[in-house]
Amino acid sequence: MQIHHTIESLRAARATAGKVALVPTMGNLHEGHITLMRQAGEKADCVMASIFVNRLQFGVGEDFERYPRTLAADCEKLEAAGVTHVFAPDEAEMYPQPQRYHIDPAPAQVSILEGEFRPGHFRGVATVVLKLLNIVQPDIALFGKKDYQQLMVLSNMVREMALPVEVLPGETVRADDGLALSSRNGYLSADERARAPLLYRLLCRICDAVRSGDHDLLKLETDAMDELAAAGWAPDYVAVRRRADLQPPVHMDDPLVVLAAARLGRTRLIDNIEI
Ligand code: PAJ
Repeated sequence: MQIHHTIESLRAARATAGKVALVPTMGNLHEGHITLMRQAGEKADCVMASIFVNRLQFGVGEDFERYPRTLAADCEKLEAAGVTHVFAPDEAEMYPQPQRYHIDPAPAQVSILEGEFRPGHFRGVATVVLKLLNIVQPDIALFGKKDYQQLMVLSNMVREMALPVEVLPGETVRADDGLALSSRNGYLSADERARAPLLYRLLCRICDAVRSGDHDLLKLETDAMDELAAAGWAPDYVAVRRRADLQPPVHMDDPLVVLAAARLGRTRLIDNIEI
């Protein structure tokens, strides 16, 4: 496995690599990331993983400084998963000067859900992902459904900008108790970790209720928010939305997804399930 710290070296490797699948990450890799790498390996000759903690997508007071940086351990996991190239630039390589050109996703997509609570987040995500796609020029790029709105924003960017890459989604990988794997789970205390699966259980309950014909979405959402608050969480949202554009459903036979974000102690967790 080759590790590239510069754009020049990565591009030289890419030139002879055949069909390339890129999996962008911020490192501190877990089985969710590794599953995306394996899925990528089934689709391409060569899997490239990027590891870059992207300052642009963190808001003031978010965890940019304390986000775990574990390059050596990450590279061991990537090598074991059959990844052939890692792109791990430092900040001076990705942003040699302050980034002055940005991708602004459609306001209708980023003023809701995560975008409402993390202003500027998706602008930072879309900008760095466009830059990574331009650097690597992969045939395929994989993103997890764990970050459902991110997947939607990036798929739309690729389509509207006619980028020559195919976006493939990956299913959310969970711990045995249902908690979605996340680099941020490491921030949880033992007590918080034991309580964390409540978020997934509430999403499952809403999913079951909607499937069995309960269409009072507002009540389902409010009850779940109340239950989170009663259990000591600070919920940002619990919302049943259309999968296609994450807007509130008009017809209950639209394909739906239920999404939630809530803080447990100092840690903000997000999750979703398709109904
Ligand atoms: P990061 O949080 O490191 O996630 C990298 C990729 O792994 C994303 O596509 C994410 O959706 C996916 N992922 C995370 N947890 C997962 C899980 N439990 N199951 C399946 N997939 C999972 O998302 C980012 O980084 C950044 O925003 C990035 C796209 C790299 C841009 O900086």
